[in-house]
Amino acid sequence: MEQEQRLVAMGKMAATLAHEIRNPLGSMELFCSLLEQDLVDKPELLSNAQQIHKGIKTVNHIITNCLQFAKGMIVRKEPVTDVREYLQGVLDILKKKIEDSEIEVTVKILDTTCEERRQSLLSIDHYQIKQVLVNLLSNAIDAVNERYSHDDFKVVKKISLVSDLQDSQFWILSIIDNGVGINDEVKENMFDPFYTTKNEGTGLGLAIVGSIILAHGGHINIENNSNELGCRATIKLLRN
Ligand SMILES: Nc1ncnc2c1ncn2[C@@H]1O[C@H](COP(=O)(O)OP(=O)(O)OP(=O)(O)O)[C@@H](O)[C@H]1O
Ligand SMILES: [Mg+2]
Repeated sequence: MEQEQRLVAMGKMAATLAHEIRNPLGSMELFCSLLEQDLVDKPELLSNAQQIHKGIKTVNHIITNCLQFAKGMIVRKEPVTDVREYLQGVLDILKKKIEDSEIEVTVKILDTTCEERRQSLLSIDHYQIKQVLVNLLSNAIDAVNERYSHDDFKVVKKISLVSDLQDSQFWILSIIDNGVGINDEVKENMFDPFYTTKNEGTGLGLAIVGSIILAHGGHINIENNSNELGCRATIKLLRN
């Protein structure tokens, strides 16, 4: 409950902040581009201007994430006609990252009987849940890569995505990785906006995930695997 209230409050603040910062940031970017055009013949000064431009882009990225976090509140549900195809669409977005990292990804669909009837009962905001899955999978990819880089060169990097529509009320989705896993401190803070253990992270990934799941009337749980190193994220979503 406390977590949910905190997310709602942060969402409102994020929307206000994002709106206020966006406009001046837009002019900064525009004038920076003009400056760059003027400096094409002065490479050293140009490089300084490019650094400023890069900084502006990063701030823009953070602001976009903040806005997304706030927008998580508005849900437009549409039916999913083919779960496998939908999940494949998500994996396609991360195809390059997965291939470059040489990760073994498996997809399991647990809904063998009356498939057509069951799936017609599934309705979600396609764009938002895609974003949830991309964020969770990105975290899983980072986690297996981190484990690999730290110690275990022998370990085969694995991520599995399990869709379970066997319950008539809920869609249960799990993302399981054999990465570094989480300690108590991370577990406690991971859904907080801007909490990150990564050099290049914004810490907004799971905050966005949390706000979207909340708006869907769903639930998410992330915990260590019981039998081996790594994490399991489980999402439970109302089917309509
Ligand atoms: N599957 C996972 N395995 C291990 N740690 C995880 C996993 N998922 C999340 N975490 C931890 O939770 C923290 C917060 O995750 P979150 O997605 O919010 O931000 P991030 O991944 O650090 O940044 P960004 O999403 O902007 O790249 C991560 O920095 C990481 O420490
Ligand atoms: Mg992340």
